[in-house]
Amino acid sequence: MQHLIRTSDFTKEEILNIFDEAREFKRTKNSKVLEGKIIITLFFENSTRTRSSFEIAAKRLGAEVVNLDVGTSSQKKGETMYDTVANINAMQPDAIIIRHSECGLPESLIGYVNCPIINAGDGRHSHPTQAFLDLFTIYEYFEGQTEGKKIAIVGDVRNSRVAGSNRRLLPRFGIDVNLVAPDCFKYEGDEYKQFDTISEIIDDMDIVMSLRSQLERHNITYFESLQEYARDFCITTDLMERKEFLLLHPGPVNRNIDINDDVLKHHRCKVLEQVTNGVAVRAAILKKLILNY
Ligand code: CP
Repeated sequence: MQHLIRTSDFTKEEILNIFDEAREFKRTKNSKVLEGKIIITLFFENSTRTRSSFEIAAKRLGAEVVNLDVGTSSQKKGETMYDTVANINAMQPDAIIIRHSECGLPESLIGYVNCPIINAGDGRHSHPTQAFLDLFTIYEYFEGQTEGKKIAIVGDVRNSRVAGSNRRLLPRFGIDVNLVAPDCFKYEGDEYKQFDTISEIIDDMDIVMSLRSQLERHNITYFESLQEYARDFCITTDLMERKEFLLLHPGPVNRNIDINDDVLKHHRCKVLEQVTNGVAVRAAILKKLILNY
C-alpha cells in the first residue's frame, strides 16, 4: 500500500503515468473504476479547490465520498487526532484525504490506518497534489519539453507549502527554480537562487508562479500594507508584455495584490486551467493509490 505525503513518494515514472491517466481522464471524464469504494476527507483548514476537486474526481470515477465535518466531530469533546483517525479507519474507508495546519501530521497518521493517506496540505510543509497539477499544467503547455525551462516562484515562498512542494518537484523534471520574495518571505536555505524583485529576472523566465501571502500563518509587519507589497511583486500587464511566460497561481488569488485583474484574463494566465487539471490529476492519483498499482 502506498501513501502520498510528499512529491518524492512517487518516482518520475509514476508521475508520468499519472499524467497519462490524467490526460485520459480529461478526454473521457466518467468511468466506474472506483465503484464501491469510499473515500473520506478530513479538512481541518479551509479549501475551495482541493477538497471539491478530490470529491468531483472520486465521484466521476464511481466512488462515494464522505466529508467529515471537523467542526462538529468528537474532537470538540476531547477526542485526539489519532483516535479520530483510528476510528475513521475502523469504518474501513478505501482512502483518507487530510489537510491540517500542523507540518508532518498526515505522515504521523500512517501507523493508524489500513488504507492510503493523501496529504491535501500540511502547514507550510507540503501540498503534493497541487505540485503535481502545477507540473502537469506546465508539461501540457510546453508539450512535455520541460528540460531547461526556468521558473520564478514569486511571493511568500517561506510560508507556502505549494512553493515547498514545487521547489522540490520541478528540478526533477529539469526546471530551474528561482525564488523571488521580499526579505520577510525569503526561503531560509541556500539551495535555490533568490531574488528581491521579479523585474530583475523576468526577461529570463519561461514560467512565473505567483503565490498568496499566507496571512493565516504569520503577521507581516514588514510592509505598511499588502498594496505596498504589490508594488514590487504583483504580476502586471507590463510584465506580461515584456516576456512571453506561462503564468500560474495555486489560488486563492488575492486580486491586484498577487495578480492584476486584467492579467487574470490573459491567454497565458492558466489559473483556471490549473483547477481543471487538478480534478484530472487527483482522479489519476486516487485511482493509482486505491487500486494499488
Ligand atoms: N490551491 C489550494 O490548495 O486551494 P484551496 O486552499 O482552495 O484548496
